[in-house]
Amino acid sequence: MKKIIILLMAAVISMPMVATAASGGAPLLTAPIDINDKESLRRGAKAFADYCYSCHAASFMRFNRIAKDLEMSEDEVREMMIHTRGKKGDPTKIGELMKVSMTEDYAKNAFGTAVPDLSLTARARGADWVYTYLRSFYVDPYRPTGFNNAVFADVGMPHVLWSLQGLQEPVYKKVMHGNVEVEELDGFEQIQAGTLSRVEYDMFLGDLTNFMVYIAEPVQVERRSLGWKVLLFLIVFFGFAYALKKEYWKDVH
Ligand code: HEC
Repeated sequence: MKKIIILLMAAVISMPMVATAASGGAPLLTAPIDINDKESLRRGAKAFADYCYSCHAASFMRFNRIAKDLEMSEDEVREMMIHTRGKKGDPTKIGELMKVSMTEDYAKNAFGTAVPDLSLTARARGADWVYTYLRSFYVDPYRPTGFNNAVFADVGMPHVLWSLQGLQEPVYKKVMHGNVEVEELDGFEQIQAGTLSRVEYDMFLGDLTNFMVYIAEPVQVERRSLGWKVLLFLIVFFGFAYALKKEYWKDVH
């Protein structure tokens, strides 16, 4: 009896926990991720379609899978996310993968680098990295796009969300490394307001990051609810097994 309870407790405790990866530069913020919050995932999907999908593919993902997992109708997803046509001019279908038409050559010309597919980015980099990255673009007149990024130095991506976030400049502090004085990033100063407040922008990024965490492993939406069903089954089954054991041993003791 005791052993079984301990085993059950161990199973609950060892359920998957969120893992994060390290950053290159500035310290990472904690992304407010809740993979079970379908409202947030739907807002994130819209943000992704509106602001990212023109350049970035998420080519492991199909539109109709999004409809199913995020509990939307196929028409809703079509209206929200599909603004492209195929090579022959026919509308992109709901069962297709989220590809983009931008070629690598074009991207290299425009941004100096290929545009990465974002299917697995939230898993490879970690949700906190993605969230912090999207919050850390700052004005830098020496960069071709006019922006640099505190966690991705000399990034090729333009700050596509600047009208929402507004503009920020870096603030540096002087620190001693041994006996050499160096400047280290100490935060940002807002120099122009965006259309969203700071809190609204953070929520917008939270939803967007949540969506990226979901596309990086769509099955986790299902897996988590499956986990609870399995545990519930085990508990109920244990009840029956225990009653049966009592019944069998009743005459022996
Ligand atoms: C105008 C095209 C463009 C748009 C729109 C765009 N990006 Fe990017 N993005 C790029 C390019 C180019 C890079 C590669 C930068 C580099 O390697 O220097 C990149 C890199 C990234 C990376 C880093 C990936 C990695 O692992 O190195 C992330 C994350 C990212 N983009 C997220 C987004 C999100 C989220 C949006 C929507 C809000 C978005 N991007 C919109 C062009 C774009």
